[in-house]
Amino acid sequence: MQVQFDILRSDRQTKEQYVQSILYECADDSETVATALTKINADSAVRDLHGNPVSAIAWECSCLQKKCGACAMLIDGRPRLACDAMLKEFRKKHISLSPLKKFPVVCDLIVDRSILYENLKVIGVWLKKEAERSEKHDDMAYEGSRCLQCGCCLEVCPNFYAGGSFAGMSAFVPTARLLSELPDTQKKELFEAYRAHIYEGCGKSLACRKICPAGIDIDGLLVNSNAMAVWKRVKR
Ligand code: SF4
Ligand code: SF4
Ligand code: FES
Repeated sequence: MQVQFDILRSDRQTKEQYVQSILYECADDSETVATALTKINADSAVRDLHGNPVSAIAWECSCLQKKCGACAMLIDGRPRLACDAMLKEFRKKHISLSPLKKFPVVCDLIVDRSILYENLKVIGVWLKKEAERSEKHDDMAYEGSRCLQCGCCLEVCPNFYAGGSFAGMSAFVPTARLLSELPDTQKKELFEAYRAHIYEGCGKSLACRKICPAGIDIDGLLVNSNAMAVWKRVKR
Protein backbone atom coordinates (compact mmCIF):
# COMPACT_ATOMS: atom_id res chain seq x y z
CA MET A 1 0.00 0.00 0.00
CA GLN A 2 1.34 3.41 -0.97
CA VAL A 3 0.47 6.52 1.00
CA GLN A 4 1.24 10.17 0.32
CA PHE A 5 1.99 12.13 3.47
CA ASP A 6 1.50 15.89 3.19
CA ILE A 7 3.46 17.15 6.18
CA LEU A 8 3.35 20.73 7.47
CA ARG A 9 6.99 21.35 8.27
CA SER A 10 8.78 24.41 9.58
CA ASP A 11 12.18 25.92 9.24
CA ARG A 12 14.02 25.68 12.58
CA GLN A 13 15.49 29.17 12.27
CA THR A 14 12.87 31.24 10.46
CA LYS A 15 9.85 29.16 11.69
CA GLU A 16 8.40 29.56 8.19
CA GLN A 17 6.00 26.71 7.46
CA TYR A 18 5.71 24.74 4.23
CA VAL A 19 4.07 21.49 3.11
CA GLN A 20 6.37 18.65 2.08
CA SER A 21 4.80 15.66 0.32
CA ILE A 22 6.42 12.25 0.60
CA LEU A 23 5.36 8.97 -0.95
CA TYR A 24 5.59 6.13 1.54
CA GLU A 25 5.41 2.44 0.75
CA CYS A 26 4.10 0.56 3.75
CA ALA A 27 5.00 -3.08 4.09
CA ASP A 28 2.10 -3.95 6.30
CA ASP A 29 -1.23 -2.15 6.67
CA SER A 30 -1.14 -2.49 10.45
CA GLU A 31 1.61 0.14 10.42
CA THR A 32 0.82 3.37 12.23
CA VAL A 33 1.67 6.97 11.39
CA ALA A 34 4.37 6.70 14.09
CA THR A 35 5.94 3.68 12.35
CA ALA A 36 5.90 5.50 9.01
CA LEU A 37 7.56 8.61 10.47
CA THR A 38 10.23 6.45 12.12
CA LYS A 39 10.96 4.64 8.86
CA ILE A 40 11.03 7.81 6.78
CA ASN A 41 13.50 9.37 9.22
CA ALA A 42 15.67 6.25 9.14
CA ASP A 43 15.96 6.29 5.33
CA SER A 44 18.58 8.81 4.21
CA ALA A 45 17.68 8.18 0.54
CA VAL A 46 14.08 9.33 0.85
CA ARG A 47 13.03 12.17 -1.51
CA ASP A 48 9.92 14.32 -1.60
CA LEU A 49 7.58 14.52 -4.61
CA HIS A 50 9.83 17.16 -6.20
CA GLY A 51 12.94 14.99 -5.78
CA ASN A 52 14.37 17.04 -2.92
CA PRO A 53 16.09 15.27 -0.02
CA VAL A 54 13.96 15.05 3.14
CA SER A 55 15.62 16.21 6.35
CA ALA A 56 14.64 14.40 9.57
CA ILE A 57 11.01 15.18 10.41
CA ALA A 58 10.78 16.51 13.97
CA TRP A 59 8.08 14.77 16.02
CA GLU A 60 7.89 13.45 19.57
CA CYS A 61 7.33 9.97 20.89
CA SER A 62 8.22 7.89 23.88
CA CYS A 63 6.10 4.85 24.67
CA LEU A 64 4.63 4.05 21.23
CA GLN A 65 1.82 2.38 23.18
CA LYS A 66 -0.77 5.15 23.70
CA LYS A 67 0.51 5.74 27.23
CA CYS A 68 2.55 8.97 27.17
CA GLY A 69 0.68 11.40 24.89
CA ALA A 70 3.91 12.72 23.35
CA CYS A 71 3.02 11.87 19.75
CA ALA A 72 -0.20 13.94 19.60
CA MET A 73 -0.57 15.81 16.29
CA LEU A 74 -3.24 16.67 13.73
CA ILE A 75 -3.75 13.67 11.47
CA ASP A 76 -6.04 14.56 8.60
CA GLY A 77 -7.14 17.53 10.67
CA ARG A 78 -8.06 15.57 13.83
CA PRO A 79 -6.00 15.62 17.01
CA ARG A 80 -4.76 12.07 17.49
CA LEU A 81 -1.85 10.00 18.72
CA ALA A 82 0.45 8.99 15.85
CA CYS A 83 1.12 5.64 17.52
CA ASP A 84 -2.62 4.94 17.54
CA ALA A 85 -3.41 5.95 13.94
CA MET A 86 -3.19 2.94 11.64
CA LEU A 87 -2.63 3.64 7.97
CA LYS A 88 -5.36 1.20 6.97
CA GLU A 89 -7.93 3.47 8.62
CA PHE A 90 -7.44 6.01 5.86
CA ARG A 91 -9.32 5.01 2.73
CA LYS A 92 -7.80 7.79 0.67
CA LYS A 93 -4.11 7.60 -0.01
CA HIS A 94 -3.28 11.15 1.10
CA ILE A 95 -2.77 11.76 4.82
CA SER A 96 -2.03 15.24 6.12
CA LEU A 97 0.11 15.67 9.23
CA SER A 98 0.45 18.97 11.05
CA PRO A 99 1.30 20.21 14.54
CA LEU A 100 -1.44 20.87 17.12
CA LYS A 101 -2.72 24.40 16.57
CA LYS A 102 -3.33 25.67 20.10
CA PHE A 103 0.31 25.56 21.11
CA PRO A 104 3.42 27.35 19.79
CA VAL A 105 5.25 25.29 17.16
CA VAL A 106 8.80 24.30 18.09
CA CYS A 107 9.62 22.54 14.83
CA ASP A 108 7.63 20.49 12.27
CA LEU A 109 5.21 18.36 14.35
CA ILE A 110 6.58 19.32 17.76
CA VAL A 111 4.74 21.93 19.81
CA ASP A 112 5.46 23.51 23.16
CA ARG A 113 2.78 22.18 25.52
CA SER A 114 4.16 23.79 28.67
CA ILE A 115 0.83 25.63 29.14
CA LEU A 116 -0.63 22.27 30.25
CA TYR A 117 1.77 22.17 33.19
CA GLU A 118 1.43 25.89 33.88
CA ASN A 119 -2.32 25.38 34.26
CA LEU A 120 -1.78 22.52 36.72
CA LYS A 121 0.36 24.91 38.74
CA VAL A 122 -2.32 27.64 38.60
CA ILE A 123 -4.89 25.24 40.05
CA GLY A 124 -2.43 23.73 42.52
CA VAL A 125 -2.75 20.10 41.43
CA TRP A 126 -0.43 18.43 43.87
CA LEU A 127 -0.61 16.80 47.26
CA LYS A 128 0.53 18.82 50.22
CA LYS A 129 -0.08 15.94 52.61
CA GLU A 130 -0.80 12.24 52.37
CA ALA A 131 -3.76 11.32 50.16
CA GLU A 132 -6.72 9.52 51.68
CA ARG A 133 -8.07 6.55 49.80
CA SER A 134 -11.77 6.03 49.93
CA GLU A 135 -13.56 3.13 48.29
CA LYS A 136 -16.38 5.47 47.43
CA HIS A 137 -14.08 7.53 45.20
CA ASP A 138 -11.67 4.86 43.95
CA ASP A 139 -13.20 4.72 40.46
CA MET A 140 -12.93 8.47 40.10
CA ALA A 141 -9.32 8.48 41.29
CA TYR A 142 -8.44 5.76 38.79
CA GLU A 143 -10.18 7.53 35.90
CA GLY A 144 -8.48 10.80 36.85
CA SER A 145 -5.08 9.11 36.80
CA ARG A 146 -5.39 8.11 33.14
CA CYS A 147 -4.82 11.53 31.56
CA LEU A 148 -1.87 11.50 29.13
CA GLN A 149 -1.48 15.31 29.07
CA CYS A 150 -1.53 15.00 25.29
CA GLY A 151 -3.53 18.20 24.73
CA CYS A 152 -5.97 16.72 22.17
CA CYS A 153 -8.95 17.88 24.27
CA LEU A 154 -7.70 21.48 24.24
CA GLU A 155 -7.44 21.37 20.47
CA VAL A 156 -11.18 20.84 20.01
CA CYS A 157 -12.35 22.96 22.93
CA PRO A 158 -14.05 26.19 21.82
CA ASN A 159 -13.44 27.76 25.25
CA PHE A 160 -9.73 27.06 25.70
CA TYR A 161 -6.96 29.36 24.59
CA ALA A 162 -3.46 29.69 26.02
CA GLY A 163 -3.34 32.48 28.59
CA GLY A 164 -7.10 32.40 29.25
CA SER A 165 -8.53 31.70 32.70
CA PHE A 166 -10.15 28.41 31.60
CA ALA A 167 -7.59 25.62 32.14
CA GLY A 168 -9.31 22.97 29.99
CA MET A 169 -9.84 19.25 30.43
CA SER A 170 -6.14 18.40 30.61
CA ALA A 171 -6.13 20.30 33.93
CA PHE A 172 -9.57 19.15 34.96
CA VAL A 173 -8.89 15.38 34.84
CA PRO A 174 -5.94 15.42 37.30
CA THR A 175 -7.90 17.89 39.45
CA ALA A 176 -10.82 15.46 39.56
CA ARG A 177 -8.42 12.82 40.84
CA LEU A 178 -7.14 15.10 43.56
CA LEU A 179 -10.69 16.05 44.60
CA SER A 180 -11.32 12.37 45.22
CA GLU A 181 -8.16 11.82 47.28
CA LEU A 182 -7.60 14.95 49.35
CA PRO A 183 -8.79 15.01 52.95
CA ASP A 184 -11.82 17.34 53.29
CA THR A 185 -9.84 19.79 55.41
CA GLN A 186 -7.49 20.47 52.48
CA LYS A 187 -10.06 20.91 49.76
CA LYS A 188 -11.06 24.54 50.28
CA GLU A 189 -8.38 26.08 48.03
CA LEU A 190 -8.91 23.43 45.39
CA PHE A 191 -12.68 24.08 45.37
CA GLU A 192 -12.03 27.77 44.67
CA ALA A 193 -9.55 27.05 41.89
CA TYR A 194 -11.89 24.46 40.39
CA ARG A 195 -14.77 26.92 40.23
CA ALA A 196 -12.64 29.71 38.75
CA HIS A 197 -10.54 27.77 36.25
CA ILE A 198 -12.74 24.85 35.24
CA TYR A 199 -16.40 25.02 36.22
CA GLU A 200 -17.02 28.61 35.15
CA GLY A 201 -15.23 28.27 31.79
CA CYS A 202 -16.57 24.94 30.55
CA GLY A 203 -19.53 25.04 28.16
CA LYS A 204 -20.20 21.28 28.69
CA SER A 205 -20.35 20.55 24.95
CA LEU A 206 -18.18 17.47 25.59
CA ALA A 207 -16.32 17.70 22.28
CA CYS A 208 -13.29 16.85 24.44
CA ARG A 209 -14.88 13.58 25.54
CA LYS A 210 -15.24 12.38 21.95
CA ILE A 211 -11.66 13.19 20.97
CA CYS A 212 -9.80 11.99 24.11
CA PRO A 213 -7.49 9.18 22.93
CA ALA A 214 -7.50 7.64 26.40
CA GLY A 215 -11.31 7.40 26.33
CA ILE A 216 -11.54 9.03 29.76
CA ASP A 217 -15.05 9.28 31.19
CA ILE A 218 -14.90 13.08 31.28
CA ASP A 219 -18.65 13.58 31.75
CA GLY A 220 -18.71 11.16 34.69
CA LEU A 221 -15.78 12.98 36.30
CA LEU A 222 -17.47 16.34 35.71
CA VAL A 223 -20.68 15.22 37.41
CA ASN A 224 -18.77 13.96 40.46
CA SER A 225 -16.46 16.94 40.68
CA ASN A 226 -19.24 19.51 40.27
CA ALA A 227 -21.18 17.75 43.00
CA MET A 228 -18.19 17.97 45.34
CA ALA A 229 -16.76 21.36 44.47
CA VAL A 230 -19.81 23.36 43.42
CA TRP A 231 -23.20 22.06 44.47
CA LYS A 232 -22.37 20.69 47.92
CA ARG A 233 -20.25 23.72 48.57
CA VAL A 234 -23.11 26.04 47.69
CA LYS A 235 -25.39 24.16 50.11
CA ARG A 236 -22.95 24.50 52.98
S1 SF4 B 1 -16.99 20.19 27.61
FE1 SF4 B 1 -16.72 21.60 25.86
S2 SF4 B 1 -16.10 23.59 26.80
FE2 SF4 B 1 -15.82 21.96 28.37
S3 SF4 B 1 -13.67 21.36 28.12
FE3 SF4 B 1 -14.88 19.94 26.85
S4 SF4 B 1 -14.88 20.87 24.79
FE4 SF4 B 1 -14.22 22.47 26.25
S1 SF4 C 1 -8.18 14.48 28.97
FE1 SF4 C 1 -7.75 13.05 27.29
S2 SF4 C 1 -7.37 14.38 25.52
FE2 SF4 C 1 -7.17 15.67 27.33
S3 SF4 C 1 -5.00 15.69 27.84
FE3 SF4 C 1 -5.96 14.02 29.05
S4 SF4 C 1 -5.75 12.19 27.77
FE4 SF4 C 1 -5.35 13.94 26.43
S1 FES D 1 4.39 7.66 21.71
FE1 FES D 1 3.43 7.59 23.68
S2 FES D 1 1.35 7.92 23.19
FE2 FES D 1 2.27 7.77 21.25
